Amino acid sequence: MATELNRFSKTLTQEVTNPAAQAMLYGIGLKEEDMAKPQIGIASTGYEGNPCNMHLNGLSVYVKQGITANNMVGLIFNTIGVSDGMTNGNDGMRYSLPSRDIIADSIETVVAAQWYDGVIAVVGCDKNMPGAVMAMARLDRPAIMVYGGTIRSGHWKGQKLDIVSAFEALGKKFANNISDEDFKGVIQNSIPGQGACGGMYTANTMAASIEAMGLSLPFSSSYPATHTGKQEECKKIGAAMKNLLELNITPRDIITKKSLENALTLVMALGGSTNAALHFLAIARAADLPLTLDDIQAISNKVPFIADLKPSGKYFMEDILEIGGVPAVMKYLYSKGMIHGECLTVTGKTLAEDLAEAPDLDFDTQKIIFPLESPIKASGHIQILYGNLAPTGSVAKITGKEGLTFDGEAKICEHETEIITMLSKGEIKAGHVVVIRNAGPKGGPGMSEMLKPTSAVMGAGLGDKIALITDGRFSGGTHGFVVGHITPEAFDGGPIALVKDGDRITIDANTRQLTVHISDEEMATRKAAWVQPEPKFTKGMLGRYIRTVKSASEGCVTDEA
Ligand code: FES
Repeated sequence: MATELNRFSKTLTQEVTNPAAQAMLYGIGLKEEDMAKPQIGIASTGYEGNPCNMHLNGLSVYVKQGITANNMVGLIFNTIGVSDGMTNGNDGMRYSLPSRDIIADSIETVVAAQWYDGVIAVVGCDKNMPGAVMAMARLDRPAIMVYGGTIRSGHWKGQKLDIVSAFEALGKKFANNISDEDFKGVIQNSIPGQGACGGMYTANTMAASIEAMGLSLPFSSSYPATHTGKQEECKKIGAAMKNLLELNITPRDIITKKSLENALTLVMALGGSTNAALHFLAIARAADLPLTLDDIQAISNKVPFIADLKPSGKYFMEDILEIGGVPAVMKYLYSKGMIHGECLTVTGKTLAEDLAEAPDLDFDTQKIIFPLESPIKASGHIQILYGNLAPTGSVAKITGKEGLTFDGEAKICEHETEIITMLSKGEIKAGHVVVIRNAGPKGGPGMSEMLKPTSAVMGAGLGDKIALITDGRFSGGTHGFVVGHITPEAFDGGPIALVKDGDRITIDANTRQLTVHISDEEMATRKAAWVQPEPKFTKGMLGRYIRTVKSASEGCVTDEA
């Protein structure tokens, strides 16, 4: 059995063709009896500079203990991370989405080069999770993702706070709606310690949906970072990995078209981040599976939005554990025929078998998840819009709370910082459709998130009075009438590049059209006069990113011709 479980690492440990490799393995402390054991790479995105990541190296040690206890060799290595919360609203955000692909590339590189038999990724922020899963799909060796866990909520004067509270405090400051004491109180108390941003923002969206896809153990997305269950989960990973090796279950057995649909079903039901559209397109491509924006729309059409979670709702991710966790939500959706139960998971069982052990949602006591029969919105909040402003697609977040259509006058911002200046001068007014362009994957570059502008708009009390469209993207923390991922992007001469101040724009979630009301002739005239901007970078990582990245409608992948 052992020789089968170490089918990759035996290249280094059991053949006399590479004595240097064996010598080095002895050099790191392995003994002769370890040479026949499977070697498991433990990829941590731990680093000190961000609450989402600060504890991951510690969790990796627990994972390693579980690997050792199951007669395998665990070898921890690190890859990078970028804090979305800290880079939002500044040029550091250019590096955020590219970091996903660096994480994927680096995990692929280490695991393949070092001949690891399996990989466990201990991850905890927006890009870490899709990046790790993309690597797992490419490598197709037994793999499990461990989520670092959500943060607990912060508190100030009896109010629960999170990272978005800090951004929205800025908007309130612009509108003179907050005292200096309260502004400082919110900033100093929003983030009480380790864990990923606490609403159904991108990190929690990806953690929950990847668990739904089957690549992490049940409850991985539900245990907060500081919950004892998180350490217990880490210690159980060794047995789970041993089982996967013995059964030879690999990520491409788990990531299938149906399991992707399960993941996206959960995203819709929970009101998850629009970034999920981008990341699942990329994960599907890494697994060589067909998934398109239209598939995402098809799921949105049939899955109601039923969760009263932040950003548009009231509750935090930490509250989900109290009502039975993500497994309870999945079990409910499965009971209603919305989940494919036959999909395999990293438990080695089917999802239906896993869910049989999950608790039931109690609709008499819990108030977070609404019954499917009386949802917050009858279809998903993520809507794919086309139209003459987005011929190859865009991704809108429409919870219905802001209405289903918006018609207004274009107000152009060539950079997201302009909207902050305009807001502070009172130049953004009710009825404006703010167009933030040249923020796409190539034009940004890096397709920045617009959390600072949208939070500032909310804080200024304009959330239900203006709309915001962009070829950039939105944070999971964004709410309001927003359309992002507009393709083709402005840098490539997409119609968003041709809009002028004062043009009338209609966003219609009923017809799923994003329209600028100018004639085809006028559009052609403007296109003829358009000159492509110079790339903002020609060298370094961002220069390479501009040359290699695919469009947002293709998941912004960087490894395809
Ligand atoms: Fe990591 Fe928000 S900054 S999840």
